[in-house]
Amino acid sequence: MTNDTDMKKLAERETLKILILGFVILVLVGVMMWKEARSEWRQYQQGFIKVLQEHTDPSSDPGKVASGVKQIYLPRANRVDRCQTCHLGIDSKGLEKAPLPYLTHPEPTITWIHPIERFGCTLCHEGQGYALTKAEAHGDVSRRLWPKPILPKEFLQASCGKCHNPDLMEQDAPKLFAGKRLYKEKGCIDCHKIGSVGGSIGSEHTDLARFSISYLLESVMNPTANDPGSAMPNLGFTEEKAKALLVFMLSLDKTYIPYKYKTVLQQ
Ligand code: HEC
Ligand code: HEC
Ligand code: HEC
Ligand code: HEC
Repeated sequence: MTNDTDMKKLAERETLKILILGFVILVLVGVMMWKEARSEWRQYQQGFIKVLQEHTDPSSDPGKVASGVKQIYLPRANRVDRCQTCHLGIDSKGLEKAPLPYLTHPEPTITWIHPIERFGCTLCHEGQGYALTKAEAHGDVSRRLWPKPILPKEFLQASCGKCHNPDLMEQDAPKLFAGKRLYKEKGCIDCHKIGSVGGSIGSEHTDLARFSISYLLESVMNPTANDPGSAMPNLGFTEEKAKALLVFMLSLDKTYIPYKYKTVLQQ
């Protein structure tokens, strides 16, 4: 009968293992649910109701605030932008004076011409559309993890040049227009190529937007810093001039070639 008791013991041991495993899984699921409930974006969503009450309707009902992840899918651009999960008021009226991240989008004509449901956010601002923490979404992470952090406001007009011809943007994106003019005046194109146009003494500039802002600023203001033997002339730019140039340089983005001059987004 030893065989029988052995079998019984074995069965008991197996049952115990399964029970322990079940318990571990239960705890893990519990921890995940707890983390999810306390996630950064949920906290921003909870903060939104107070902002609504202060800025629009004092009797706003928490139940009316959309909860959950909000996203825009842009199949042609192959992007999913979830920025609105935290930037909850971006396409509402009445939150012009609300604090970040809840405010209505500034410059209403911009989002009127480029409706958010067709353009999302990252086509203009960059950043990692799919991410749900502020650091990851804004791209405040290693450039190896996300090479295109959100563009600081002073360089934001670079994005207009990713789809529009800078020479036609004097009114709508004056910094971009000025940067392009400076690039032409200083003869950068004599040594650098953009697409098939330009010289070949320096590197190609077709995709300069892949570099960080600090690297580009340094390359222009102090060319020998990155390479002591560089043939790149120091043109004595002030920081202000260099930043103007940078708005144009950051608009040189190969990944936007399909939308160049507005072709892809036209329905
Ligand atoms: C987890 C919440 C969260 C997500 C997701 C998020 N943001 Fe933000 N964002 C914030 C907060 C909070 C601020 C206020 C400024 C701060 O705290 O740094 C902000 C500020 C900003 C600003 C203005 C300040 C600046 O640094 O220029 C821009 C532009 C912006 N976000 C764009 C985006 C874009 C584009 C996305 C999507 C790729 C995005 N955000 C996703 C929370 C978020
Ligand atoms: C067509 C381009 C475009 C699109 C699309 C766009 N924005 Fe903007 N955004 C701008 C411009 C231009 C400004 C104004 C910058 C300024 O005031 O100089 C701006 C300003 C902002 C600001 C205020 C920045 C600050 O520091 O005060 C936030 C926040 C912001 N956008 C978030 C978003 C979010 C979130 C989305 C997507 C839901 C979005 N934007 C879509 C172009 C765009
Ligand atoms: C992803 C590409 C893209 C980006 C980035 C973009 N635009 Fe546009 N823009 C378009 C498209 C597409 C239209 C046409 C809109 C339509 O057909 O509804 C347009 C239309 C316009 C118009 C109306 C006149 C015209 O040329 O059709 C202006 C002005 C304009 N954009 C300015 C800007 C500014 C300023 C920025 C930067 C803040 C910007 N755009 C960023 C794609 C873009
Ligand atoms: C006489 C030729 C010449 C002119 C004019 C010139 N450059 Fe350069 N540039 C170079 C060379 C050569 C390099 C490569 C240096 C090196 O080996 O790192 C370079 C490098 C650069 C880089 C670094 C790019 C990279 O791929 O690492 C930037 C950015 C740049 N130049 C911008 C400009 C701008 C903006 C202008 C106009 C204001 C300009 N250059 C004018 C020759 C030139």
